[in-house]
This record gives sequence, C-alpha cells and structure tokens, in this order.
Amino acid sequence: MIICKLADETQRIVKESTKDGQKSGFIPTMGALHDGHISLIQKSIQAGNFTSCSIFVNPTQFNNPADFAKYPSTLSSDIDKLEEAGCDLLFLPSQNEIYPPDFKPPHYKLGYLESVFEGKYRPGHFQGVCMVVDRLLKIMQPTLLYLGQKDYQQCMVISKMVSDLGIKTEIAICPTLRENSGLAMSSRNMRLTADQKTKAPLISTELLRLKKNIREGNVDSILEESIKTLDKAGFKVDYFSVANAANLQPVTNWDGQSKIVGLAAAFLGEIRLIDNMLLN
Ligand code: PAJ
Repeated sequence: MIICKLADETQRIVKESTKDGQKSGFIPTMGALHDGHISLIQKSIQAGNFTSCSIFVNPTQFNNPADFAKYPSTLSSDIDKLEEAGCDLLFLPSQNEIYPPDFKPPHYKLGYLESVFEGKYRPGHFQGVCMVVDRLLKIMQPTLLYLGQKDYQQCMVISKMVSDLGIKTEIAICPTLRENSGLAMSSRNMRLTADQKTKAPLISTELLRLKKNIREGNVDSILEESIKTLDKAGFKVDYFSVANAANLQPVTNWDGQSKIVGLAAAFLGEIRLIDNMLLN
C-alpha cells in the first residue's frame, strides 16, 4: 500500500493509477479503524476500484473540543488492517495540508438537514463534515465515495452537498457492521468501560424492538417506552425518534406506508453513541 501525506502527490498517484480507465473508490475516515471501516474498503476492492482511504481527524467537525482531544488514534494497527484488506493507497494528511493558511471555510446550504438530530445537538458539525469531505473529494476525485449507513444523516448531508456542487462522484452507502451484541461498531466504543460496554447494545435492542412493533398509531408510545428504558439503564438520551427516511422529517402519525428510519443518540458517561435502523 502506498502511504502519502501530500495532497498533490496523492492526486497524481490516483490519476496515474487509473489512467487506463480503472475506477477509483475512496473511503474517508478518522482512523481508529474497525471492521465497519474495513467493510467499506472491501466493498470498493470487490468492485474492482483503485481503492484509497484517508485518515484525518477533522477538527472542524468536533463541536466539543474534549471529544476531539480524546479521539482515539491507533495508526500502526490501522495501517496493518488496510494492508491486510488490500487497500491501494492511504492518504495521511497533516492539518496544514487539508486547511492551508489561505483556506477560506466555505458555507454549505444544508437547510433543514442541519437543524435536526445530529445537526441540532452538534451545532456546526455538518459544516465541518462538508468542509473536509469537499476538500478530500477535490484531492481524490474518486469515481465512487463509500459511506456507512451508521452515520445516516451524514450520508444525506454529503449526498446533498455532492449534488448541490455538481461533483461527479457516485455515492455508495454500505450497511452498518455490528458487534455480536448488536452494538454498532464505532471508534468511540474503544473508550467505553467494561460496564458501559455491557450496557451499550441496549440502543440497538431498542431500535430492533421499534422495528418489530411499530404500527400506525403507536409511534409515540413505543418511543416513550424506549426512552424510559434507556434512561433507567443510565443513558442520557439526546434523541430516540422516528423520521421519514427520505428527508428526516419527524414522523408521529405514521401512515403505515412511507419509508421510515429510527434514529438514536445517547450518552453513556462521556461517550456519545449514535445508531439508526431502517424500519420498513
Ligand atoms: P469515521 O467515523 O471514521 O467513519 C468513516 C466511515 O466509516 C463513515 O462513512 C462511517 O459511516 C463508516 N462507518 C463507521 N462505523 C461503521 C460501521 N459500524 N459500519 C459501517 N460503516 C461504518 O464519519 C467519519 O469518520 C467522518 O465524519 C468523515 C466522513 C471521515 C469526515 O471527517
């Protein structure tokens, strides 16, 4: 695997490697790689792409500086995992490479998507995500961008940005990988204590219960029950909600037909966990 720290050099290598018409696949990450990340790399490799991954812990998307400071870093094991998966290139930029001194932060028109769920609880987060992904896409210019459904709203926000800016990259959204317990894999799980790790799967258990039991007319009562259960187990719930899967408008009176998604975010101690599940 080629490891490259410079943007120009990375762009040159990707162009050179795909000059005979091979498609390029790109997987942006913040490192502390787990099997969920690797599944995106594998999807791209299986599709026959020249496959690049980036590791960059992006300061502009952290609304909480302590969360940024404590973000796990496991570079040498990340490199081993990428090598083993067969990734072709790792882009490992410095802050200066992504945000040079003359960088002017753009503002992205995200509208409603920025005011709900993660947008509401993490002000500025999606502006930061768009800023870094826009910058990375300009460098990598991939045929395909691989994203995880784990970050459902992030997929919607990036899709909107790509379409609004007319960026010629196709987006592939890949399923959430889970531990056997049901817990959605996340780099933040490394920071859970043993006790928290036994409690953490309850979010996915409640989402599954929602999926199994949701009917027209019972949305509010089911959600209330789940929030109570999570509260009792020691979570501090930011939201546990049902929304229209296409536009994230909240759903209280479900018509029994429209595509809906269950979305959850909750703290266990200092660690904020998010998860989601398509419900029909
Ligand atoms: P990060 O949290 O490192 O995630 C990188 C990619 O892996 C994202 O597309 C995310 O949705 C996906 N992913 C994370 N956990 C997953 C799981 N359990 N199963 C499947 N895919 C999973 O998301 C980010 O980084 C950043 O916001 C980024 C897009 C890199 C911009 O900085």
